[in-house]
Amino acid sequence: MGKGLYITKGVAVACAVLAIGAVATIIGLSVAYSKEKPGSEAASTASPVGTSTPSTPKEPWQRFRLPDTLAPLWYNATLRPRLEPNAEGLYIFTGHSLVVFKCVRATDLILIHSNKLNLTTFQGFHVKLKGLDGGPAPSLRKTWLEVPTQYLVVRLNSFLAAGRAYELYTEFVGELSDELGGFYRSEYIEDGVKRVVATTQMESTDARKAFPCFDEPAMKAVFHMTLIHPQGTVALSNSMDLDAVNISIDGQNLIRTRFEPTERMSTYLLAFVVSEFTYAGKTQGIRIWARKTAIEEGQGDYALQKTGPILAFFEGYYNSTYPLSKSDQIALPDFAAGAMENWGLITYRETNLLYNPEVSSNADKEKVATTISHELAHMWFGNLVTMKWWNDLWLNEGFASYVSYLGANYAQPTWNMLDLIVLNEIIGVMAVDALASSHPLSSKEEDIMKPEHIMELFDSITYSKGAAVLRMLSEFITETIFSQGLHTYLEEFKYNNTVYKDLWKHLQMAVDKGGIPLPDSVEAIMNRWILQMGFPLITVDTKTGKITQKHFLSDPKSVVDRPSEFKTSFSMASTESTTTLTTGSDSSPSSDIPVINRAQIIDDAFNLAKANIVNTTLALRTTKFLSKEIEYVPWETATRNLGYFYLMFDRSEVYGPMQAYIRKQVGPLFDYFRTLTVNWTTIPTGHTDQYNQVNAISLACKTGVEGCKDLTTGLFKNWMQNPAKNTISPNLRSTVYCNAIAGGGVKEWDFAWSMYKNAAVASEANKLMAALSCTTQPWLLNRYLDYCLDPEKIRKQDAASTIAYIASNPIGQSLAWDFVRARWSHIFHE
Ligand code: BES
Ligand code: ZN
Repeated sequence: MGKGLYITKGVAVACAVLAIGAVATIIGLSVAYSKEKPGSEAASTASPVGTSTPSTPKEPWQRFRLPDTLAPLWYNATLRPRLEPNAEGLYIFTGHSLVVFKCVRATDLILIHSNKLNLTTFQGFHVKLKGLDGGPAPSLRKTWLEVPTQYLVVRLNSFLAAGRAYELYTEFVGELSDELGGFYRSEYIEDGVKRVVATTQMESTDARKAFPCFDEPAMKAVFHMTLIHPQGTVALSNSMDLDAVNISIDGQNLIRTRFEPTERMSTYLLAFVVSEFTYAGKTQGIRIWARKTAIEEGQGDYALQKTGPILAFFEGYYNSTYPLSKSDQIALPDFAAGAMENWGLITYRETNLLYNPEVSSNADKEKVATTISHELAHMWFGNLVTMKWWNDLWLNEGFASYVSYLGANYAQPTWNMLDLIVLNEIIGVMAVDALASSHPLSSKEEDIMKPEHIMELFDSITYSKGAAVLRMLSEFITETIFSQGLHTYLEEFKYNNTVYKDLWKHLQMAVDKGGIPLPDSVEAIMNRWILQMGFPLITVDTKTGKITQKHFLSDPKSVVDRPSEFKTSFSMASTESTTTLTTGSDSSPSSDIPVINRAQIIDDAFNLAKANIVNTTLALRTTKFLSKEIEYVPWETATRNLGYFYLMFDRSEVYGPMQAYIRKQVGPLFDYFRTLTVNWTTIPTGHTDQYNQVNAISLACKTGVEGCKDLTTGLFKNWMQNPAKNTISPNLRSTVYCNAIAGGGVKEWDFAWSMYKNAAVASEANKLMAALSCTTQPWLLNRYLDYCLDPEKIRKQDAASTIAYIASNPIGQSLAWDFVRARWSHIFHE
């Protein structure tokens, strides 16, 4: 991952649906967009004459894709991170690596990825080359680092022979930087002492920052890793440690930990961590690693308790045993994404793995369960069988996003996870996919070349629309047939790579075997959903019964400049979304209409209103029944849609009547929860009821329902008076903090800030971080924006989300926009 601010997928999705999407999107996608057409690869380094154009670089090392001449077999790499700065104040690592590769097609050129590594030279060359099995190796002609394409280039005086194997040796020094990519460092304070962790984040293209490697997902190989690290630290990697012995280098007593050879795997799934962490876990098989104090407090226990069942669920679902002998999961104080599915050593942000019932909310718990489920799903789908190239990323991430709900539902059967997928993945991404700027799920291989093109693919379309279309598919072919297709797919391609058509083939085989009648082939149905952007608006003429479809755009004036080979027609194989649009009824929500459809009616109506297809009053009328609704999913949908209205109308004459109306609607819900929780002293039992209690308080306070502000400010005041004792129930903390800070001044803000800096649990720090953006005082918001660019105040991993939180506050919206433009250069480069 390059420089600049970091944004997790969760933040990206949240940002994308914010009305101020522009701010968030710009921060998230801080990459320049340029396209390069691939040239046909020449095995010889001689330049083809007369074929070069500016977009087809003439030399192989100027192209971003590796040629198909060489294939790695195995690596033997030793790395030694320094957890203390050197004389120049730099944290570094040193290492050496050997890669054995096979020559597939004769060539006089070796291209291997290497980025930001300082390579040792041997008699003027950056490598040593040997032939294996007694065979000769060509002599070296010239070696250099091709910085733009991140290659170490080795030109030879004669050709490598097809079918023969060679070994390439390198020695190097790299920086253990704080950039959250490659081999990097994370820091935290424990017992008053600063501790440094050396850790990795390779996806998508940063393994090349740790050691020279063929850094493409189809270049699978076996890795023999060794780590040299200080006494008192423990080293982890993808596979089990073989041995750990004390050694001495230059008078320093160190440990050398060697690991078992990995399975055949892709470079982006490699991981190694050196830390003073400890773990929760009774067996060598499943361990949860984190800072000592976090583990001692039991923060890893929930993850530990759920990992076994979720792994067992996926073994059953895929009908395939977990392919590795161990599963380590580790929580890191600094981590760019939410979590990363490194095979056998999954890395997490602390908030996505650690849970403390005293301070973490039910939302925090759900985040832990779904993240674990998502990453464990990848252990097969993504890791055992991997996409050939990044253009099929949607299949990897969309799939894991879909089945993460199935795994979490198994681990927490009472949570209504199968309803929550509609809310969390589908409703939000439909708003994004209804924009003219959307894009098809599937990209062409040749359109995804540079690292920044690959990073751009990690968006809500890839994750959430990917999940949505796979859910639709599994629904119409049935979950059983879907999982049977997955089983044969994994069997055929294990330890290898695929394209999405391979999955369609196996699902089709399962459909045929199961005798499921379909209007068309799986491929024909699905291509219309993955190869063109958007989704249809279906209109039924109730007089004639005629049904028509049209590409739905939320801005009717927007123009789509992306051609569609299907002329924006979609296959309808699912009947799930067929609902009756009952409008204007304020009777009790009929139990005949399922919860998700009640939400869908509201969401559809608001989107149709945005697109000028129905009147805004009609959309508002779909919220009339809410005064009698107590379920979370419809309320949450309405709240999100009304949030857009708040951002649009907060300065117009509509604001007053809108407030009055919502106050009237939410009043009964507020009373309902006050009674249910015996005046806010107990916690509702249901998971989604706990969520809806928070909605009731948030909306009630926002619209001035009597008793709400007193409740939140009272709770916060108590805490301010006795900072050592926070009696606010974890579920309510986010909304209580936010409301108290919004209603308070600098005193409340500064108190929350000091609590944020001292928080021992990451999820608690996150709640405060979000709540600090709720202040209504512009100077405090501006000061907070400045803090975002100071890593001592706000960790780099959190800067983008903090700016996005500020932008979602109507008062912060324009401040954030001005700030991002004024400080763009700093945001982009630092
Ligand atoms: N493979 C991704 C992590 C990742 C994201 C790597 C972006 C490189 C760039 C991982 O499987 C993932 O999807 N993580 C999610 C968490 C999940 C619960 C949706 C994330 O990081 O947001
Ligand atoms: Zn994923």
